[in-house]
Amino acid sequence: MGTILLLFFYFSKKKVIKKELEKKDMELLHQKELLQATLLVQEEERMRIARDLHDDISSKLNVVALNSHLLTTEGLNNDEVTEITNNITSLVNKALENSRKIAHDLLPPVLEKFGLNAALEELCLEYNSSKTVTVEFESKCNFKGLDSTKQLHVFRIIQELINNSIRHGHATNIQISFWGDDLVACTYSDNGKGFDIKNVKTKKGLGMQNIESRIFFLDGSITTTSAIGKGTTTLFNFKCV
Ligand SMILES: Nc1ncnc2c1ncn2[C@@H]1O[C@H](COP(=O)(O)OP(=O)(O)OP(=O)(O)O)[C@@H](O)[C@H]1O
Ligand SMILES: [Mg+2]
Repeated sequence: MGTILLLFFYFSKKKVIKKELEKKDMELLHQKELLQATLLVQEEERMRIARDLHDDISSKLNVVALNSHLLTTEGLNNDEVTEITNNITSLVNKALENSRKIAHDLLPPVLEKFGLNAALEELCLEYNSSKTVTVEFESKCNFKGLDSTKQLHVFRIIQELINNSIRHGHATNIQISFWGDDLVACTYSDNGKGFDIKNVKTKKGLGMQNIESRIFFLDGSITTTSAIGKGTTTLFNFKCV
């Protein structure tokens, strides 16, 4: 009897350990996938910045260099000098404006200066002014416990959720609400077309994987519920200390 009991405990313990190991393996695999998605996103972002710099800044500075060289040509009359100088000024101004835009995309200045609430308010205002969608935003948090990198993660999450609601759901109304102190929660919902989550889970785009990576860095959790014709709701939370 004793031996049977011992064997029983031995095998059930072995089973528990096996289950735990399997769980750990799954967790590791998930973390690996998140890391891979993050790297992919980083590469995409780098390519986009490189493209922007190349198309919007370098090409303009090249023409500025050519024009500056033209100014050294002998025998130019006053009108020609004025024309070339005006060209240079206009190109430099455009290059300046574009570099501001690129910097703005990388880190919205309002986020750095006034924090997450102000940045989200400005983002919603931008969408509202398009008149195709109403974005309602309320926040009872001050996000004081979040450093600027983490605030940028939250900002990018909301940006991607809004993009998805408009691009895929054709939503006309979006509601965003933040509450909580040390643990902040956010409810995000749209009245769009909705989608079949089960189908999407197997072929998540970069956007949703990117959101998951950001939630991982925020040490938080996220759930999305949606159904065709019923809109989409995303709930996420993260520590704010
Ligand atoms: N709010 C939404 N309403 C309707 N469908 C959605 C919504 N959010 C996500 N989806 C569906 O989930 C899919 C995956 O979204 P995800 O953001 O990961 O990728 P994507 O938007 O297609 O591409 P990317 O974000 O990489 O440019 C979308 O293609 C869309 O079918
Ligand atoms: Mg997307």
